[in-house]
Amino acid sequence: MLLWILLLETSLCFAAGNVTGDVCKEKICSCNEIEGDLHVDCEKKGFTSLQRFTAPTSQFYHLFLHGNSLTRLFPNEFANFYNAVSLHMENNGLHEIVPGAFLGLQLVKRLHINNNKIKSFRKQTFLGLDDLEYLQADFNLLRDIDPGAFQDLNKLEVLILNDNLISTLPANVFQYVPITHLDLRGNRLKTLPYEEVLEQIPGIAEILLEDNPWDCTCDLLSLKEWLENIPKNALIGRVVCEAPTRLQGKDLNETTEQDLCPLKHRVDSSLPAPPAQEETFPPGPLPTPFKTNGQEDHATPGSAPNGGTKIPGNWQIKIRPTAAIGTGSARNKPPANGLPCPGGCSCDHIPGSGLKMNCNNRNVSSLADLKPKLSNVQELFLRDNKIHSIRKSHFVDYKNLILLDLGNNNIATVENNTFKNLLDLRWLYMDSNYLDTLSREKFAGLQNLEYLNVEYNAIQLILPGTFNAMPKLRILILNNNLLRSLPVDVFAGVSLSKLSLHNNYFMYLPVAGVLDQLTSIIQIDLHGNPWECACTIVPFKQWAERLGSEVLMSDLKCETPVNFFRKDFMLLSNDEICPQLYARISPTLTSHSKNSTGLAETGTHSNSYLDTSRVSISVLVPGLLLVFVTSAFTVVGMLVFILRNRKRSKRRDANSSASEINSLQTVCDSSYWHSGPYNADGAHRVYDCGSHSLSD
Ligand SMILES: *[C@@H]1O[C@H](CO)[C@@H](O)[C@H](O)[C@H]1NC(C)=O
Ligand SMILES: *[C@@H]1O[C@H](CO)[C@@H](O)[C@H](O)[C@H]1NC(C)=O
Ligand SMILES: *[C@@H]1O[C@H](CO)[C@@H](O)[C@H](O)[C@H]1NC(C)=O
Ligand SMILES: *[C@@H]1O[C@H](CO)[C@@H](O)[C@H](O)[C@H]1NC(C)=O
Ligand SMILES: *[C@@H]1O[C@H](CO)[C@@H](O)[C@H](O)[C@H]1NC(C)=O
Repeated sequence: MLLWILLLETSLCFAAGNVTGDVCKEKICSCNEIEGDLHVDCEKKGFTSLQRFTAPTSQFYHLFLHGNSLTRLFPNEFANFYNAVSLHMENNGLHEIVPGAFLGLQLVKRLHINNNKIKSFRKQTFLGLDDLEYLQADFNLLRDIDPGAFQDLNKLEVLILNDNLISTLPANVFQYVPITHLDLRGNRLKTLPYEEVLEQIPGIAEILLEDNPWDCTCDLLSLKEWLENIPKNALIGRVVCEAPTRLQGKDLNETTEQDLCPLKHRVDSSLPAPPAQEETFPPGPLPTPFKTNGQEDHATPGSAPNGGTKIPGNWQIKIRPTAAIGTGSARNKPPANGLPCPGGCSCDHIPGSGLKMNCNNRNVSSLADLKPKLSNVQELFLRDNKIHSIRKSHFVDYKNLILLDLGNNNIATVENNTFKNLLDLRWLYMDSNYLDTLSREKFAGLQNLEYLNVEYNAIQLILPGTFNAMPKLRILILNNNLLRSLPVDVFAGVSLSKLSLHNNYFMYLPVAGVLDQLTSIIQIDLHGNPWECACTIVPFKQWAERLGSEVLMSDLKCETPVNFFRKDFMLLSNDEICPQLYARISPTLTSHSKNSTGLAETGTHSNSYLDTSRVSISVLVPGLLLVFVTSAFTVVGMLVFILRNRKRSKRRDANSSASEINSLQTVCDSSYWHSGPYNADGAHRVYDCGSHSLSD
């Protein structure tokens, strides 16, 4: 019914005489037959809407729309594209899909909306995609998924959600969905319940759960048991505990029930055990089995006309590759290209591209030992070996690398310019080694690197400019090292979305010149550092308050002074932490000061805050000397007095605009996010929220 009304509405709209342009006939896009399928390629055409375009009505086609500016999709956006069988919308800055946007796309089997800024999947976001089998939505800002988000997708088998902000999957979200492949890496999941979640994906063939902060408590026991009962090799990659501390870094499969539930002696019988494998098939038709190494791919029964779309065998390759691939059995694979695969490694062709070379856990002590050199290697896995140094000469033959995994070796030495040739490298894992210093020279050449993982090393020093060599870096993982400080401007020129600094030795972090450069951050981990809750931390605290708990993953606990030991310093007021700063100010002002931190959260302009931070650091540190303390207080006191007065008057008129902003944020949910809390500049907000209304 809804469908008809909406279709009627659009046809009326067109009947009103608006001209539509056929993207093929008018050569707006390039339309070519490739292997019997028509490809309508409208990449980077600057489209902001599709309402005034049409595409062939007599033929099925794949529709490529990546790199346009389709930031919001309105109902019937694709009404003139009903013959599309796949839809590619990567990199559009897409942040809102109004329910009904996909109406009419009954033939689409594959939808790619990855690398956008989508914050939520609502109940009818996917309404109309009756035949969808493959949904790729990685690298978005997804946090909220409605329990009914996928209810219309009764054929969905592959769901790719890695690198989002998902902290929980709602109950029954998979109730009507025959999922076989699920990628949840790089989210914020702490647990996954069996009841109403895992039990509803009995047909699972591959699942990826890496890089989530798994909370290894009793609650995770059901996940552990479920993983033990799904088909062998269905779990790809590791499930590593983040909490509690005693299990940190441990693989879930290596924990015992006793570890997870130390307080219970026996299994809690109320905990449902997952049914055995034989019983787990769903009552309905079996999901199509999936062949990883199958000849390219195969269509699902009754798939799209004209060959339609398929689930490719290399579904993982399109997304972030994972280190873990079946060892052992893969060992004696026939060599690729007629070349022998070096040193007991296994080599696999990545369909449509180069080689994947797996040398994990092969007792490799130097890269120089891997002979012969295969030049078309794109993914090189060397985890769990005994490599202690890496040199430039080791990589001259690997210039096509996209992923390099050197995790869990003994690497202490990285020669300058080692990676100079690796211009295409996007993912670099060097976790669990013995690195102690990071410098620009060591990472020179990595101009396309997006992901750098150096957790669990012994890094004490990061030299200025280290990350300047990597302008595309988005994810930086530095936790569990020995860091005490970061150099000024270390994040200048990179726009990190995710940063892990937990479990280091930071006592405070400067805002000016360091944290204020994290303008695109959507997730930062800072727990497990010995924060010193003294005056120097005030600007940092205000910065953290501005980010809010959505960005800041975890509690920040004071280590010193003793009276604040283990206290969450977000709960302490600034004048408790730094009484000196407020001592000189008259009591009436002090009482205001308690509330004034709230100012930062309203989202109003906060540049004046950064200025105060600069002042308080530079003035208070020398203030340890008694002589300076007195004069410093006077200066700071006066400054604060002046600023506060300024802010109070600002606040008065900000109060009304603050509530306005709040309601705007709920209506137009992502403008706040994708420009980052600091860049939430007026222009953007007005465009996003002002110029469109939901009903237009
Ligand atoms: C077609 O629509 C555009 C905006 O959607 C409008 O500016 C234009 O005047 C319309 N043309 C006709 C012929 O109605
Ligand atoms: C646990 O999983 C890891 C990674 O998949 C694997 O290397 C290890 O052998 C497993 N351990 C056990 C005890 O199964
Ligand atoms: C690993 O290699 C070293 C020499 O590089 C050799 O001495 C050792 O026996 C090897 N270990 C295994 C388990 O093969
Ligand atoms: C590596 O680069 C740094 C910084 O330019 C330099 O100080 C160091 O001497 C270089 N090391 C070698 C071995 O050339
Ligand atoms: C802070 O503000 C709240 C409400 O805005 C008010 O109830 C409270 O009294 C204020 N506290 C101080 C110390 O001014």
